[in-house]
Amino acid sequence: MCADRLKTLVTGGAGFLGSHLCQRLVDQGHDVICLDNFSTGNRANIAHLESLENFTLIEHNICEPIELNVKRIYNLACPASPEHYQKDPIFTTRTCVLGSLNMLELALKNNASILQASTSEVYGDPRVHPQPENYRGHVNPIGPRACYDEGKRCAETLFFDYNRMHGVDIKVARIFNTYGPRMQEEDGRVISNFIVQALMGAPLTVYGRGEQTRSFCYVDDLITGLILLMNSNETGPINFGNPNEWTILELAKLILDKTRSQSEIQYFPLPTDDPKMRCPIITQAEQKLHWSPKVPLEEGLEKTIAYFMKEEVC
Ligand SMILES: NC(=O)c1ccc[n+]([C@@H]2O[C@H](COP(=O)([O-])OP(=O)(O)OC[C@H]3O[C@@H](n4cnc5c(N)ncnc54)[C@H](O)[C@@H]3O)[C@@H](O)[C@H]2O)c1
Repeated sequence: MCADRLKTLVTGGAGFLGSHLCQRLVDQGHDVICLDNFSTGNRANIAHLESLENFTLIEHNICEPIELNVKRIYNLACPASPEHYQKDPIFTTRTCVLGSLNMLELALKNNASILQASTSEVYGDPRVHPQPENYRGHVNPIGPRACYDEGKRCAETLFFDYNRMHGVDIKVARIFNTYGPRMQEEDGRVISNFIVQALMGAPLTVYGRGEQTRSFCYVDDLITGLILLMNSNETGPINFGNPNEWTILELAKLILDKTRSQSEIQYFPLPTDDPKMRCPIITQAEQKLHWSPKVPLEEGLEKTIAYFMKEEVC
């Protein structure tokens, strides 16, 4: 067990990122409480942790207050893929805003540090490229993505107001596209979509001409960054992502190659407000936290493809 064994709450702990974070914290010897309402998460993601003495699972919706004794809070609870967060946009806004309020109140009562899983979506469809943390974004407040983009922006506002008004020890991580094992098969995120389609021999669905760019960070790198931020004196916001930029078409071709799939590529119209470019500037994470992503896309994709093959999606 580690010297400073801390009671740590991970909201959204049964989700993709949350389950990896719980695993890392449990491995480090912390007492981890995983809180989730299983709206997009999956109990199977944390099944292997449930019997451990330093792991507790609580089923709870963060839109409702909760009393717990904790020293650290990682607030990850929120539907994250466009398909999921647009299904019930009011629930998404409630989770971002009311959920963050409840977790900040919990941090205040416990004098706990609290980290917010924010997102590159706060930059919207950016007019500055790549995106530094001081870019204020270009978000459509009434579009179909606004429940998430504006919800996460409001959550950041709340975090900084609790810091300014009450001195709560906050950390805001702006996470760019992250991928890896335990992504959900059908949640509409591009990497899981392409892998599943390639493994099933179905056409890969590319929106527009596939010229829009994204950057992809492997989950292990991201988790390292979140823990470094929690352990630091920084408030953020700090970008976490992989600055190597790929077009969606390049990604599709790489996945076809790695899966040795014969699938074709099919082109569809671009969805509303789909960002054309997304790429982080990570100088702050590099300089303040000595963090940079280590896993190349090819290697991360191989691990992710192996996961989906074991899940027998094909
Ligand atoms: N994966 C990414 O690329 C990415 C990028 C940017 C930001 N993020 C942020 O990271 C966090 C985790 O994302 P993820 O990819 O693991 O998504 P995910 O959907 O796999 O996980 C979210 C988890 O939160 C739970 N949840 C949702 N609403 C809840 C509520 N009201 N109360 C309790 N639990 C609730 C879900 O059941 C799920 O287990 C999210 O806040 C997301 O916005 C993720």
